[in-house]
Amino acid sequence: MSDTIRIVVIHGPNLNLLGQREPGVYGTLTLEAINAKITQWAEEKSVEIRIFQSNHEGAIIDKIQSATQWAEGMVMNPGAYTHYSYAIRDAVAAVKLPTVEVHLSNIHTREPFRHTSVIAPVCLGQIAGFGYFSYILGLEALLNKLMEGKE
Ligand code: DQA
Repeated sequence: MSDTIRIVVIHGPNLNLLGQREPGVYGTLTLEAINAKITQWAEEKSVEIRIFQSNHEGAIIDKIQSATQWAEGMVMNPGAYTHYSYAIRDAVAAVKLPTVEVHLSNIHTREPFRHTSVIAPVCLGQIAGFGYFSYILGLEALLNKLMEGKE
C-alpha cells in the first residue's frame, strides 16, 4: 500500500443543479467548478480523491459501502438526506470510515427541518455555511485527522 491518503467525496441529491439552483442560498458555482476546486486542493496536498454525485439514496449507500475498498475517509454533503436518511447514517456507522459532513449553506440558520442532521452524530464533525469552502475545510479537517493516525 502506498502512503498516499485517499478520500471519497460524495455529493447528494440536487447538488448536480448547483449554479442554477437557488443561487442566493447555494452560490453561483456549478458542481463542476466546485469539483475543480476540490481536485486542485487534492493535487496541492498530494491526496487522491474520487468524487461521486447521486440523486439516489441507494446509490449513495452503495458508494459508502464500496469506499471501504479504497478510501481512508469520506467528505459528504448528503443534501436533504441529511435531515432524515437513517439508511445513510447506518451506512456511515457501519463502514467506520472517518467522515466529515459538509454543507454549502448554514443549515442551522434556515428552516427548522434543516436544523437536524441524523448523519452528523456518526461523523467526525460537521462544517456548514461557507459555500464551496465548506468542502475544503472538511477535507482539511479530515486530512489532519488521518495524518494523526499515521504519526
Ligand atoms: C445542503 C443543505 C440541505 O438542507 C439541502 O437539502 C441541500 C444542500 C447544503 O449544502 O447547504 O440539498 O446540504
